[in-house]
Amino acid sequence: MIIGKPFRTVEEIQRRVRELAEKISSDYAGREILAVGILKGSFMFFADIVRLIQVPMNIDFLVASSYIRTKTTGDVKIHADVREAIEGKHVVLIEDIVDTGLTMKYLKELLMKRNPASLKVCAFLDKRANRKVNLQVDYVGYVIPDHFVVGYGLDYENRYRNLPYIAIFKKDSAEGIQA
Ligand code: XMP
Ligand code: MG
Repeated sequence: MIIGKPFRTVEEIQRRVRELAEKISSDYAGREILAVGILKGSFMFFADIVRLIQVPMNIDFLVASSYIRTKTTGDVKIHADVREAIEGKHVVLIEDIVDTGLTMKYLKELLMKRNPASLKVCAFLDKRANRKVNLQVDYVGYVIPDHFVVGYGLDYENRYRNLPYIAIFKKDSAEGIQA
């Protein structure tokens, strides 16, 4: 495996995650949140950001998928639902990336039916040029162009999630990662 140039380095990621955590901490000052990580992709971002958020929180996870190789199917599957009750909670969904928005729109609608006190979305990456639905993403690490990216939790066919930085995935290119 050849690992290409980081698109976002470890240091840049750390700095940006800290800024997002500070913003969330100040927005939710005096309240308790339920941070819900959308797996698998958000596991690294989730672990980094919850350590830096300064308000009381409970954490939970939701395992969902909608991707086959590099194309979203729009058909979201819930493999494991949250276990915590949502009603009356200030829920913050933590996601690796929002692309067309189909996955997050589906998840938001699903959880809104359970009457949270509030529901916000925090996505580390946002490919908003690809958006197919109207969706508010409340906290965004980076808006990125339409590249398929891997690392920092993001995968191509379940590989490369463990890279500590984000790289552009290009098959057969020295710029990206070659399997
Ligand atoms: P949609 O299109 O529904 O997609 O907003 C969101 C989900 O698609 C995955 N996704 C990616 N995964 N590199 C990845 O490894 C990418 O560039 C990428 N773009 C979208 C991701 O799982 C996200 O939850
Ligand atoms: Mg995901």
